[in-house]
Parts: sequence; C-alpha cells; structure tokens
Amino acid sequence: MKTIRVALIGLGNIGRNLLDILVHRQAAIAHDHGLRFSLVAAADSRGAAICAEGLDLAQLRDIKLARGSVAEIPLHGRAGLTGLGMLAQIEADVLVEASPTNLVDGEPGMSCSRLALERGMHLVFANKGPLVLAYDDLMAQAASVGRQVLFSGTVAGGLPTVNIGVRDLAGSGVTRVEGIFNGTTNYILTRMANEHLSYDAAVKGAQAAGIAEADPTLDVDGWDAANKLVIIANSVLHRPTRLQDLTVKGIRDITLADLDAAAAQGQAIKLLAIAERQGGDYALRVEPTWLPLNHPLARTGMWDMAVVYYTDYMGVISAIIEEEGPVPTSAAVLRDMINLYR
Ligand SMILES: NC(=O)c1ccc[n+]([C@@H]2O[C@H](COP(=O)([O-])OP(=O)(O)OC[C@H]3O[C@@H](n4cnc5c(N)ncnc54)[C@H](OP(=O)(O)O)[C@@H]3O)[C@@H](O)[C@H]2O)c1
Repeated sequence: MKTIRVALIGLGNIGRNLLDILVHRQAAIAHDHGLRFSLVAAADSRGAAICAEGLDLAQLRDIKLARGSVAEIPLHGRAGLTGLGMLAQIEADVLVEASPTNLVDGEPGMSCSRLALERGMHLVFANKGPLVLAYDDLMAQAASVGRQVLFSGTVAGGLPTVNIGVRDLAGSGVTRVEGIFNGTTNYILTRMANEHLSYDAAVKGAQAAGIAEADPTLDVDGWDAANKLVIIANSVLHRPTRLQDLTVKGIRDITLADLDAAAAQGQAIKLLAIAERQGGDYALRVEPTWLPLNHPLARTGMWDMAVVYYTDYMGVISAIIEEEGPVPTSAAVLRDMINLYR
C-alpha cells in the first residue's frame, strides 16, 4: 500500500464532494489501486488546517457542509493561514487546487500551484484559471522539476474530454474538435427547444436548478466554454493558445423563433466550442451552431455535455456525459489523483 500525502485548496462544491467520495471509496481505492490518500493539509478562504498524520475526512466534510471553515478543526485548524502560507510549511505529494477560477491573475491558484511544484508536489486542477492564463509556463515548470500536472475535470467535469484527446488519440492527428463544454447553456437551449420556453424563463430555470449564477454572463456569453477550448487547444492540439486567440459568441440573442426555424429544417441549435484545422494551424471559436438532428451533439439532453474528435486515422470519436451536479467533477479530480500513480 502506498500512502499519498494530499494538500487541498478550496473546499466548496468540488473539494467537499471530493472528501465525501474519499470517505466512501477509500477502501475500494486501496483494494483496486494500492493507494491510500492522506489529507495532510487543507485551506479555504478563512484559514487552513495541517496534520502530518492526516486530517479526519468525514469531520472536515461535515464542517464544510455546515458552512464552517477548516480553521475550526480542533488542534489542527489555523485561522487566517492562507493556502500559500500552508504550502510553505508542509510536505505533500500532490496539491489539489479547487479554489475559484480567477481569469484576471489566476490567484490564489497560480501562486499556490507554482509553490507546490517548487516544493515537489504534483498538481491536480479543478480550477481552470492558472491553465487558461499560463498553460505553457506551468507545464515547463513541472517538467523542470519532474512533476505531473493533471486537469481532467476542467473541461466538462467528469467527461474524459482531456484524457481522450491527450492519451487515446496518440499518434493520430485531430482535424476538428466540437464540444458542448458548458452545461448551463446546453440546459437553457435544450429546455427552450423542447419545452418552448423563452430564453429568460430557461435562464431562470437554470438559476433555480443551481447551475447558473445570479449573473450568468460567463456562461451565456460563451466565456466558460472558451476557457475550456483554450485548455483543449493547449493540451490536446499542442497549440499555445490564449483566450484572445478565439472568437466568442454566446446564446443571449437566440430566440424561440431561431430554434423553430432550425427545427423546421430538421436541425438543432447548440453552443459549440470548435477547433478546426486550417493549414498548419487551428481556427478556434465558440458560437451557436445549427446541427442536423442525427449529429451526436444535437441529441444531447439538458444535463449533458459532450465532445466529438474528428481524427486523421482513428475515425470520429464521440463522448457524452449526463452530469447533474458537481460530483462528477470531484470524481474526475480523484481520477487524476489515481492516474498520477498508475
Ligand atoms: N462546480 C462545478 O461543477 C465545477 C466544475 C468544473 C470545475 N470547477 C472549478 O472548480 C473550482 C471550485 O469550484 P466550486 O464549485 O467548488 O467552487 P465554490 O463552491 O465556490 O468553492 C470555492 C472554495 O474555494 C475557497 N476559497 C475561496 N477563496 C480562497 C482563497 N483565497 N484561498 C483558499 N481557498 C479559497 C472557498 O472557501 P470558503 O469555503 O471559505 O468559502 C471554497 O471552499 C473552481 O475553480 C471552478 O471553476 C467547478
């Protein structure tokens, strides 16, 4: 049995559900993979907790479920200690970064992941920010210290979008990628089309279902899908890419009349992230797209996200996930934690 010392930053939907999965799956993971994950440190916005022998996962999950802070853990909690301060004083094998996505400067995830690499930890990201802003730099730093960076939960949650592209298409060229990478917009468009709901009613439905923010701008204007396409372009297509390389159009202007017009022609409208090989480069865009109803992405339901890879030699590979909440992303983080040691 190999014990892996884990540090966790961010214990919201993703971090907290990761703890819950570990509580339930620890024995099976030990049996199937010979791994035991010991949480030696954790930080949220209010403080940190450190215990070299491993924090009590169920206790910590329950504190977070009750909206408390890791700083409240008896003996080990330290109010006001930041994630960065915590990393400076611990020994760990893996940092799981699940703090909020910040696309301005990537903080706190950016500094924490750099320090974690300096201190010899592998990185597992749920947080897209540092990858979108500094993919190449992070990978170069990781390579220079012989550490791995995995992030399979950052593009469509539990869907193995990144893993299929990075690992399973090895040797084949990718001519085109089409993705439904944002669940909220697919929920909105699917409910508009299927239930003849107005755009505003469908957005309210998404907010009531807890999948859209009070301000849904990042989703409905296409920026969340664009961030994910940046990660796919860098990791799968090996194209150094920043957000400004993409053209991005969201779904705000899509009306019921548009969806009816599409349906009358046997088509659906979906918000797609598209990478299209053109000469030696890829054209990258996010835009509402008409699709024939027999296209795999046209058939996606309101809880689905999906990807289609068109390849030179491996045919056309499609994958779809039905994902109703954050748990599959937490499970994807765990998948990465295990895959580090395969
Ligand atoms: N939710 C999803 O379905 C999903 C899917 C894919 C990727 N992601 C990404 O995963 C990450 C986490 O998402 P989430 O839904 O779990 O977010 P969340 O529920 O808002 O939780 C964020 C967590 O980060 C903590 N935090 C905030 N600022 C911090 C700081 N400066 N230092 C340390 N911790 C800090 C918060 O602390 P408190 O507990 O003290 O508030 C909270 O525990 C985000 O980057 C998100 O984009 C989420």
